Amino acid sequence: MIAIDCKVPSKAETAMFVEMEDAFSQLEHLPLRGVLLDSLRSESESVRAISESFVHFLRAKHPVEVRRKFFASWQRTNNSAMSVEGLANRITKQAEETSNADAGRALSMFRSAGRLNRVADEDLGVGGQLQHFELYYRMATEFTDHDDLWQSRQYCLNSAKEFKSWLDLSRLRDPITTGLFSLLVHEGYTHAELEMIAPLFGTWAADVMGLSPKEARKVLAWITVHNGGTEKSHFAHSCAALSHYCEGSGSEVDLAVAGEIFRSYLQRKAAVMKELHELF
Ligand SMILES: [Fe+2]
Ligand SMILES: [Fe+2]
Repeated sequence: MIAIDCKVPSKAETAMFVEMEDAFSQLEHLPLRGVLLDSLRSESESVRAISESFVHFLRAKHPVEVRRKFFASWQRTNNSAMSVEGLANRITKQAEETSNADAGRALSMFRSAGRLNRVADEDLGVGGQLQHFELYYRMATEFTDHDDLWQSRQYCLNSAKEFKSWLDLSRLRDPITTGLFSLLVHEGYTHAELEMIAPLFGTWAADVMGLSPKEARKVLAWITVHNGGTEKSHFAHSCAALSHYCEGSGSEVDLAVAGEIFRSYLQRKAAVMKELHELF
């Protein structure tokens, strides 16, 4: 595991490093993998701030206004299937424009977009399962005293709105490779976050929020569906999407741009979790 600074890391923080390294190890592009791991090391303070925020939120029953802000803002940082699909749309457009001139290159780009579709399958419920939006709605509504006021934009913190627009723009406006870098860090990071919070949410639901084991299992389904390898396989699809896209478009991996996106992602996520942490 990566050596982090001299402050002793908590169990939650260590879990995040271990899980991110585990996900990132799937990336075959070794220089890019090195940049991902270096970015993680240089943002160890951000990772600490994120894990501390979750740990403190999941220790007590905070006022309902705080819980609404937590679930409204957190959702903005993890709900990104729409921009994954937006990026896939951009790639298929470029592939269509290339198809008459060079069918082989077009095919590589279509394969890249296909891999992006696989990243969004579960969120969109394409296998007939409940859409993840529904599972999140069930969880957030249960934990905010059974009303769904948490969905009001008034509860979403500015840092969370900024995080979402930054992530969306990286996929919908920036060069396509930049969007793909954002996907790499998001999927690997998400794997780590969800593995780290699963036991904490389980204890909080039962011991603090008073749910029976059966109720807790149902309410926490949004978390469990992402665990057990789901997000790690999204990371693997993101790696393949980048590789096919570079092959088809002739784009190069710009390590400096990638590093900037990776670090910025962790800093912006930490900004949201810190702003939340100030509330509890
Ligand atoms: Fe999801
Ligand atoms: Fe994912």
